[in-house]
Amino acid sequence: METVVSGIRPTGNLHLGNYFGAVKNFLKMQEQQNCFFFIADYHSLTTHPTPKDLHNNVKQILAEYLACGIDPEKATIYIQSDLPETAELYLLLNMNAYLGELERCTSFKDKIRSMPNNVNAGLLTYPTLMAADILIHNADKVPVGKDQEQHLEMTRTFASRFNRLYNEDYFKEPEAFNFGESLVKIPGLDGSGKMGKSDGNAIYLYDDEKTIRKKVMKAVTDSGPTEMNQEKPEAIKNLFTIMTVVSTPDTVEHFNNAYNNCTVRYGDLKKQLAEDIIKFTTPIKNKIDDVLANTDYLARVTKQGAEKAHESGAKTIKEVREIIGLRKFY
Ligand code: TRP
Repeated sequence: METVVSGIRPTGNLHLGNYFGAVKNFLKMQEQQNCFFFIADYHSLTTHPTPKDLHNNVKQILAEYLACGIDPEKATIYIQSDLPETAELYLLLNMNAYLGELERCTSFKDKIRSMPNNVNAGLLTYPTLMAADILIHNADKVPVGKDQEQHLEMTRTFASRFNRLYNEDYFKEPEAFNFGESLVKIPGLDGSGKMGKSDGNAIYLYDDEKTIRKKVMKAVTDSGPTEMNQEKPEAIKNLFTIMTVVSTPDTVEHFNNAYNNCTVRYGDLKKQLAEDIIKFTTPIKNKIDDVLANTDYLARVTKQGAEKAHESGAKTIKEVREIIGLRKFY
């Protein structure tokens, strides 16, 4: 069976775009592959969160993924810092990661620009830590978006460099992967582009009903169609796209017809859309609250995850140490 590894940044809450773009992908993969999903808490230290924020962020994102259906019996779900073997592999990989290539990395250049007063070594070596995350389980596949492709390319570079240096065919070169056809790119509410974190543009699974209604009612529209069957402008197309994932086909057809014969009332459309979103998110939100309140469950899941991750990680570290020549006298 193929091994899949993916890291989840513990920043912010999951929105509909994350759900239909990434989480659904994970749900499918956990049925078919040997999956390791982890919360990347080491990575988040580059921005120096307070201990309390760090812990709460990890807890929240873990609860959200579990509430969405990530199943600890099917996938290994763990906290990155519960597998310190990752940190050891990171140290070892850093010995063969060169300043030039790390500095050329696009995400690093972006960070220098966005946080010029905090260009720390953790930021510079973010790609080596990510490579360690992936190689610690010798992954075949990594489900990531476009923005992570360069990091994955660097992972392959570090893997093949290690293999060449020690003349061993040890690490695999992991590939990017997703169930492309089943992914829906969810647009935001502000008229253009995909759902993201900017204000009012995203609907979070954890939003309450009132917030969802307010956000949807404020979504960008236009003054309405003037010709039969005219093409929809982007803002309207976006609302229909969200509708296709949360509403029944009948509802979508109803509003589509109304648009095409110029009788559509955006107020009605938005009201319906808001209710259908609420119908979709409310059970998940309730589940998130249940999981957050169940500290025994969270303890059990993370302990079991740490143990399963350790089995795989300890084996890799033992073999890598042997290959490198870090051999014991006792
Ligand atoms: N860098 C990834 C992101 O920003 C998170 C991540 C860390 C990751 N380690 C990983 C993803 C390993 C895949 C595999 O989203």
